[in-house]
Amino acid sequence: MSTQEYITIHQGNSSVSVHLHGATVTSWKCDGQEMLFVSKNAIYNNKKAIRGGIPVIFPNFGPWELGPQHGFARTSRWTLKETNENSDESKAVFTLQDSEETNKMWNYKFCVSYILLLRKKEFEARLQVENIGSEEFKFTTLLHTYLSVSDVNKSTISGLQGLQYIDKVCGGKTFTEDRELVGVQENYDRVYMSTPNTHVVTNSTGGRSIRITKTNFPDTVVWNPWIEKAKGMSDFGDDEYLCMLCVEAGHVASPLTLSAGGVFEGKQVLSIC
Ligand code: BG6
Repeated sequence: MSTQEYITIHQGNSSVSVHLHGATVTSWKCDGQEMLFVSKNAIYNNKKAIRGGIPVIFPNFGPWELGPQHGFARTSRWTLKETNENSDESKAVFTLQDSEETNKMWNYKFCVSYILLLRKKEFEARLQVENIGSEEFKFTTLLHTYLSVSDVNKSTISGLQGLQYIDKVCGGKTFTEDRELVGVQENYDRVYMSTPNTHVVTNSTGGRSIRITKTNFPDTVVWNPWIEKAKGMSDFGDDEYLCMLCVEAGHVASPLTLSAGGVFEGKQVLSIC
């Protein structure tokens, strides 16, 4: 099992593939249709984060003074603990524990479990963080979901109206969203705070809409590098900004504090609607 690079679980004509590098989900096919974006230039060298799918961000979202941007989880090798395929649900469980390597950056004892549950028309991801040490720690975390869209100019995101967001493109200033349906037509990097549990993203691949239902992830990051930034990314095609949209459920605007023995669970369900 240790040399295996990725696994796939199935449920009828639907499937989920996950790389052990970062426990990065690189494919979710629903009824044979790929719903996630992965760049054609993504690098699979077990070092760099995979550009696309669902990288797991832990223990830090964004630039980090103690280690790499977005933390070490997405560039660590995870352990596959279990796979199980039943008639109505298939499951894969991955874990990441602190190591000599992680302790050099962030000296805490933790166990992260990532539980993936595939049903025919929906895909659930549960992230559990357990503090197995004797002192409390703080962290931020997020599921960096890259959705595949047919044309980003035609997609909209619901559930953001009236909410405050930090605009990372505008130097981290805070604004209020006034649109009922948010369209992305420029370089976007916004942290929407205290978002509702559900967003619907229209015009994903195949013209379908995707519902994102989240629990214990109070924030939603919306990101698309657009034209100029895309050109500067070596693992992203120049035109690929048109066919992806990141809608990322997480706990990032403020850190979580986990006391010794404490457990956090955040969850996201992606479904077709
Ligand atoms: C987003 C961040 O979640 O991820 C952006 O809000 C960042 O600031 C983007 O540019 C991609 O990050 P990375 O490290 O994968 O290039």
